[in-house]
Amino acid sequence: MLGLQSETNPEWAERVRQNIPLALIDHAHCEKKAALMAISLLNRYPEKHELVSEMTDLAVEEMSHFRMVIMKMKERSISFARDPGDNYAQVLHSRIRSKEPQRLLDTLLVSSLIEARSCERFRLLSELIRDNDLRQFYSSLLASEARHRNEFLRLAKLYFPHSEVNARLKELEEFESEIVGSLGTEATIHG
Ligand SMILES: [Fe+2]
Ligand SMILES: [Fe+2]
Repeated sequence: MLGLQSETNPEWAERVRQNIPLALIDHAHCEKKAALMAISLLNRYPEKHELVSEMTDLAVEEMSHFRMVIMKMKERSISFARDPGDNYAQVLHSRIRSKEPQRLLDTLLVSSLIEARSCERFRLLSELIRDNDLRQFYSSLLASEARHRNEFLRLAKLYFPHSEVNARLKELEEFESEIVGSLGTEATIHG
């Protein structure tokens, strides 16, 4: 699915079913961090007009997702709390090379993978959690995460040769799949 090389272990969905409050708190932080990443990208590359335009739209959309998650929490009397942390994203980010222009390419590709994995996990939640309203909520978010994944790939191919994008994407996809296989203890979105 969406280029991902491995599927999420169904036990993950079971963990989330047991701890919906933690999953929602973590989900809200994921949306906020996606908005922050979009702002950081447009801040770092102001001369790249297409990127600035896309990241502006993305930051607004991710914050609207953040607001929706906060509303779902409110309806369920769940209070917002500190970020439980996202090992998965941190380890993936550690693979971003520090020198330009590779840093831009890697940031776009890592972002595309995080969007793809979030999309895959939202699909599982839309099928497996008991709360009907939350199932519909996750189902409604699927399409936007898939679109974001495609948007990051489009930007990568706009600024870099396709062969370079495809070769690096393959490496990062393999790495992403290893990370996902080695996680599996938390009821968080990427846990
Ligand atoms: Fe989002
Ligand atoms: Fe997204």
